[in-house]
Amino acid sequence: MTSEKVFVVGGTGNVGKQTVRALLASNVPVTLFARNPAKVKELFGDSDLVSVVQGDLDEDLTPIKQGIVGHTRAFLLCAPEDMAATKGTIAQYAFEAGVKQIVDISSISAGFAWRANLIGYNHFLAEKRMVEEIPRPKGAHVVTLRPSRFMSNAILYDRPHGNVLRDVVAADQTQSWISPNDIGALAALILQDDINKHGDGVYDLIGDVVTVEQRRAIFESVLGQPITYERITATEKFNTLNKFVAHLLPFPAIVSLATLVDAPAEPSLSLPILLGREPETLEQFISSNKAALQ
Ligand SMILES: NC(=O)c1ccc[n+]([C@@H]2O[C@H](COP(=O)([O-])OP(=O)(O)OC[C@H]3O[C@@H](n4cnc5c(N)ncnc54)[C@H](OP(=O)(O)O)[C@@H]3O)[C@@H](O)[C@H]2O)c1
Repeated sequence: MTSEKVFVVGGTGNVGKQTVRALLASNVPVTLFARNPAKVKELFGDSDLVSVVQGDLDEDLTPIKQGIVGHTRAFLLCAPEDMAATKGTIAQYAFEAGVKQIVDISSISAGFAWRANLIGYNHFLAEKRMVEEIPRPKGAHVVTLRPSRFMSNAILYDRPHGNVLRDVVAADQTQSWISPNDIGALAALILQDDINKHGDGVYDLIGDVVTVEQRRAIFESVLGQPITYERITATEKFNTLNKFVAHLLPFPAIVSLATLVDAPAEPSLSLPILLGREPETLEQFISSNKAALQ
């Protein structure tokens, strides 16, 4: 068995569970910081490779200070209100405990123009805190993954309602997507790679770029029924999004999500190098999640 041991924050969600599954499949022991140990057991079974440190990021980070001792690497995904403070504190505990690599899930919007939107700015500040401000021992690194829009959004809310797909942009507008399976798989690969290979690497993750019309056609083909596209106002999109994320995000962040118009983009050329295969397409992701659409 490997001498590596990975501490995981955010391992029971969309992306993190893919990372944990991939690490377990390679016999890498993981410890999850989780608020619900029953969910950990439900997702990953009773494996000897899995430990849990129970806690809530919004209440108390000190269980992480003790719990992370003895780990060589860490996976960090979270979106608390003060992301820089929370991720910074976790990074500080990690480096004090001798962790040599943190793989951080950020957002492509962290690289947008200065304060272009609140979500990107929060991720930017968290990256800056971890990479530039927290002292770390020589040889310890932070690898930053900057995903574009998650394909899971297309199952959760960027999907047809009834037979109508609605969005705020023109039908020929392109949008960038990445599969959460690919983000999780890539994090697991990096967590098993030589630490010096990635250093303080930062990777933008765009797995597929499709127009809204192409997304409509994908839904039509996967669902086997006619789907039309209706261009709606930003207010209408805001009201829909608000139903799903009002408990997770502050008002300005929901406004920016509802009004986001992507700059022209291409799939990241780095992804096949990093993953050792082509990234998942939006069509593949929607097809394999067809059951969740019905
Ligand atoms: N959606 C997008 O298009 C997009 C694009 C780029 C970047 N991102 C970033 O990706 C991240 C979201 O990833 P995801 O979809 O994998 O999230 P997710 O499915 O909501 O999972 C969040 C994880 O964090 C845990 N968590 C949440 N609040 C917690 C708390 N107070 N204490 C302890 N654990 C807590 C959750 O635990 P439970 O299982 O207990 O809930 C879960 O393990 C965010 O940082 C977001 O900004 C998203």
